[in-house]
Amino acid sequence: MTTFEIRSGVDLHDVQGNIIKGYGRYGFPVARYVTYRINAAVAGRTFIKLLVPMLTTSVPWSESGVVEEGTKQPPSTTNVALTYEGLRRLGVPERSLLSFPDEFVMGMRARASILGDVGASAPKNWDPVWQTEDGQQPVHLLVTINAESSDALAQRYEEVGLAARAANDVAGDSAGVQQLAGHRSAGGADAAFQDGAALRDEHGTPGPKEHFGYTDGISDPYYKDSGSRSSNVIGGGKRLRDSSPATDAGWAPLATGELLLGHTDEALEYPAAPVPSTLSKNGTYLVYRKLHQNVATFDRYAASEAAKLSMEENLFRAKLVGRWPNGAPLASFPTEAEANAFNAKLEQAKADRFDETATPTQRAAATERHLELKEQQSGFDYREDIAGESCPVGAHSRRANPRGSLEFGQDHAFSTPGALVNRRRIARRGLPYGDSSDRSVDNGDHGIIFMAIGASINRQFEFVQQQWMNFGNDFRLGNDQDALLASWPDEDIDPLRARMTFEVDPDGMEVPKICTGIPQFVETRGGDYFFVPSLTALSAIARGAVDPT
Ligand code: HEM
Repeated sequence: MTTFEIRSGVDLHDVQGNIIKGYGRYGFPVARYVTYRINAAVAGRTFIKLLVPMLTTSVPWSESGVVEEGTKQPPSTTNVALTYEGLRRLGVPERSLLSFPDEFVMGMRARASILGDVGASAPKNWDPVWQTEDGQQPVHLLVTINAESSDALAQRYEEVGLAARAANDVAGDSAGVQQLAGHRSAGGADAAFQDGAALRDEHGTPGPKEHFGYTDGISDPYYKDSGSRSSNVIGGGKRLRDSSPATDAGWAPLATGELLLGHTDEALEYPAAPVPSTLSKNGTYLVYRKLHQNVATFDRYAASEAAKLSMEENLFRAKLVGRWPNGAPLASFPTEAEANAFNAKLEQAKADRFDETATPTQRAAATERHLELKEQQSGFDYREDIAGESCPVGAHSRRANPRGSLEFGQDHAFSTPGALVNRRRIARRGLPYGDSSDRSVDNGDHGIIFMAIGASINRQFEFVQQQWMNFGNDFRLGNDQDALLASWPDEDIDPLRARMTFEVDPDGMEVPKICTGIPQFVETRGGDYFFVPSLTALSAIARGAVDPT
């Protein structure tokens, strides 16, 4: 056992790295998602056996206090995940298969109506790789590679390809594991894999923007024993009663079992998990969704609707998401001037950390300042904005994480603000794909590879998508959908139905603003539900040694 295990309580050597690390934050701006079909169990198992030594674990690379000797950040990372059909084809015993949750067994395609994948988002319109002729899940195994450079990405991709070929040689079946092409790419061509990449700014530097122009990847849940920097608890953890939003005194990490199977969760229970425990412990689920973004429609609507409502366009854009395009939260910075001033301080502190002309003490002070500002960027809630006067109740990030606002004023019923949302948190691990420099067209190749990680697809991702994104009842917004993600069936949209309200001061005389006729900005282009096994479980699967008896 390493020093790190003793301190952590979770054996991070056993947990795949994409579960705990958002690789984009570690300077890995490029990614490749490679999909496989398993035609022969021997080849599939051998492939996994060859992949295991290549896999990146969750052991921290560089955080102070938890660094393990010799753990260096690699030039690329590799992780693997399996669908239900993949597990079945690898020969995982029936009894274990039967112990997986329904939504995972059914797969994402079969859950289309729950997820609102209708109209343009309907499975029949997904990329060819996600189409199925026999009703079974077409993709069985997913390899995700993230890298610091295109060269490192290409090299690792080559190594994974060699492992697949070697596995087929062992099985004596050239198609034992078969890489599946059919990922639609630029010009509509089918690519052999799905690439993802952070968008670059005007200097070519990769940054945190997504295609609509917002800063993304700011909020990230923080779980107990995850080995991340403890200050990430502010905003990332759960709020304690009577806490102050911007100090760590008021925050505690989310229970590990919200993220990883085999550990206690926020209900103080072990989450339902497949048997045997060696198969499930330290594993989790991954939702992979390719979400196309209609950038031309988005830009056009933002400009015209802001003008119609007599608002600055940037304020309009901020109201849709709950954060200004520069990332400052609307709840704390209600005007653009405040948001810009905050962001300027944040950028300055970020730059000062690396100022070579500064003394070590000055750089340390800048690091401290930067951390404090990051805390303000994440560690807020809506207690001063219950009515949604600054940040609309239906704004995308407020719906996705209401931060205790569903329980405000109900102290008799809830001793912990956020008790409801703490069980619905999602670790987002995706990246944008494609290029949207031509903003005049919707049908280019641009969107997000959305990846959500958590111990229960149904309780976490599906609930957020179905109840909070596609429906507004919990927020007293009736059937208003999230403006960013709303999808519409093929029939004509009732312009009043596709709407979002910008609330105002309930004691004032102003009238709420209502955006109407919101068109579809995001279209699902495919994806599935995956299990991300621990390294122990992968080794057992590779040996055909999963024994649920
Ligand atoms: C193309 C699709 C999407 C876009 C452009 C988008 C954009 C954004 C942006 C700009 C933010 C604020 C930045 C941040 O807090 O990191 C955000 C936050 C978030 N989004 Fe999305 N998003 C998309 C899809 C989704 C989906 C499908 C879900 C889940 C069903 C989701 C869940 C979340 C969550 C949980 C947060 C963090 C909220 C918080 O903790 O404050 N997003 N998104």
